[in-house]
Amino acid sequence: MKVLLLVTEAVPYVKVGGLGDVAGALPQALRRAGAEVRVIMPRYGLLDPQALGLRQVRGNFPVTMDWRREECQLWEDPRTGMWFLENQYFFGSRHLVYGNGDEVEQFVLFCRAALEACQLEGWVPDVVHGHDWPAAAAIRLHWAAPGRAGLVFTVHNLAHQGAQRPDGWPLLGVYDGRGAMNLMQQALFCADLITTVSPTYAREIQTPELGFGLDGQLRERADRLVGILNGLDLESWDPSTDQALPARYGPGELSGKRICKQALQREMGLPVEEVPLIGVVSRLDFQKGIDLLVGGLEEILETTSAQVVVLGSGEQGLEDALRRASAANPTRIAAWLGFSAPLSRRIYAGADLFLMPSLFEPCGLSQMIAMRYGTLPVARATGGLVDTIVDCARPEGFGYLFGPYQREAMLEALGRALVDYTDSESWDAARNRAMLADFSWDRAARSYLEVYSRALAYAGHPAAS
Ligand code: ADP
Ligand code: GLC
Repeated sequence: MKVLLLVTEAVPYVKVGGLGDVAGALPQALRRAGAEVRVIMPRYGLLDPQALGLRQVRGNFPVTMDWRREECQLWEDPRTGMWFLENQYFFGSRHLVYGNGDEVEQFVLFCRAALEACQLEGWVPDVVHGHDWPAAAAIRLHWAAPGRAGLVFTVHNLAHQGAQRPDGWPLLGVYDGRGAMNLMQQALFCADLITTVSPTYAREIQTPELGFGLDGQLRERADRLVGILNGLDLESWDPSTDQALPARYGPGELSGKRICKQALQREMGLPVEEVPLIGVVSRLDFQKGIDLLVGGLEEILETTSAQVVVLGSGEQGLEDALRRASAANPTRIAAWLGFSAPLSRRIYAGADLFLMPSLFEPCGLSQMIAMRYGTLPVARATGGLVDTIVDCARPEGFGYLFGPYQREAMLEALGRALVDYTDSESWDAARNRAMLADFSWDRAARSYLEVYSRALAYAGHPAAS
């Protein structure tokens, strides 16, 4: 079965958040499960073809979008088979992945060009699998093609939909569209199957609270909606081999984690003391509950001895609040505002607790990484956090969940964790359970293959029989 994956970020090339992790690991797992997979993403200006050793597969080919005619090129990484779609104006000249102001035009062009490139290369997919709104136009555009492929669309985050003014329709070749064009909505309508990245989030997006205006449409298509929990790239995220760490460790052998903690305290300018260390690695976005963290810092300082380390970037107001808190309490709070993959690894390893008070969380990879590094999560019970964390209220638990989106609830869960922290024997046992939790991709890959087969059948595709 030939599967085309359209993504806008992928490890090891470029990563903004968890989609990059998923797009790096899922194709490999699908290949292990027997699928023939092609992944395509834009060649942004920040990706240097020479440094990456890319080779051009196809020179200029025209792609039409409304009144535009854009020249595109196709590149390939011969080591991984990854395809890169190039267009100088929309991608080559841009150094940001998202937030360019004309993202809807950018990514519709990407989708058009990706489908065109497959045709030109004679690589005809059985399944087209789009990830999040930037790939939604591919589902909508291919839907009308004769003898089309099965169409699968994965929602990684319903909060971002590629909504556009009413004059966006011509980008899809529609000249009598009514209302505002919304790319996510189009894909949810056209996909043979819709998946999202955890079973709990699959239920949540069918409610008005987390449906972001599309819950009604999702309820209507509930029989075509499947929640498949993301996995983790267990090779990349492994504290026993991670070269970014000052010492390595694994389940049953935690002494290296102590060295990681002390090194992290030193690196972040905190006193090297035997106090609980709370880590946060996050986009600073309303989704992530950082306002609860900021609101709770004072009480954490007053009522506990814990230190807090934050790595993140995003909303200016949240960055400023964290900067101020750290400047006012330099021995207790350290904030590194930016994106750093190596530092994130040292935080996952060096912290005792990982705080993730998300307002909503489609899946969340950070808590899985933290657990793999023996760092117990304190997280809000939402989306994939519910599906991956077992609360220490149960004997087999390895984390702490809280329900209401309230500072008090977060502090209560943190309080429970800090009490448990003082009993080193049972704490180590919980850390070992966290490290041994099964987050492999192979289970998810098998579920995607089932979804692909169902999509082929719905599409009436010959490869289905
Ligand atoms: P989301 O995709 O919503 O941001 P996830 O938990 O699924 O949330 O994935 C976030 C990924 O991005 C994790 O791999 C995390 O380590 C990484 N990440 C987030 N912020 C930063 C940062 N400032 N520096 C380095 N890595 C980060
Ligand atoms: C989105 C979600 C996150 C999820 C990631 C990968 O960015 O916010 O919860 O883990 O996609 O699916």
